[in-house]
Amino acid sequence: LAPKDFRGKKVVVTAGGTREAIDPVRFLSNPSSGKMGYAIAEAAYLRGAEVVLVSAPTHLKASQGIRVIPVISAQQMYEAVLSEVEDADVVIKAAAVADYTPVKVAEHKIKKGEGNLTIELTRTPDILAELGKRKKVGQILVGFAAETQNLLENAKSKLERKNADLIIANDVSIKGSGFGVDTNKVTILSRNGKEILPMMSKKELAHRILDRVLNFMNDFTAK
Ligand code: C5P
Repeated sequence: LAPKDFRGKKVVVTAGGTREAIDPVRFLSNPSSGKMGYAIAEAAYLRGAEVVLVSAPTHLKASQGIRVIPVISAQQMYEAVLSEVEDADVVIKAAAVADYTPVKVAEHKIKKGEGNLTIELTRTPDILAELGKRKKVGQILVGFAAETQNLLENAKSKLERKNADLIIANDVSIKGSGFGVDTNKVTILSRNGKEILPMMSKKELAHRILDRVLNFMNDFTAK
């Protein structure tokens, strides 16, 4: 039985890959399955937290006691997360959020022609960075860094740039790590250093991440 060490805590988790509409029948997205985010939400719920799961489209189903807010686009995820963050103790951003979205959505299905097609893209809001700016004392912010090169340098700069407390760095080019699969191989970075973890199930990793979050919370209450 899991210890109820998150009782009384509100944990907001994001999961899945956002979809950015091009026209009524097409979108830009990524292969995120949502498994990591859902595993974190379930683990936090088992450990007694009030869990809000802001979920981009996935094939997964959350437990009854988890409050799910379904979203599709990065902009919708931004709005949903910001509406829940005020009284959150922990925010864990496991979602693969699109960095760019089409400038305009075609009203009708785009017909193919002879030449190339150009779609102009614009930046989406960086949700994690925005949360970092608004972070309250005692609030813990966890981000992910899915990289295919310079993993640790990129993750470290993300930690600082986005004012996060933990960054879970995963090399998505390693077999059995990252998108779609049930396992993950990550390094957890904080301002105090890094913890290199072996390959493990996303379920187990979810608990390891929560253990780290708990350490942070205890540090705050001890001060
Ligand atoms: O900058 P990058 O996308 O690699 O950062 C990854 C982290 O930032 C993830 O935790 C992801 O959920 C979050 N993110 C976000 N909003 C974006 C892009 C990424 O919250 N628009």
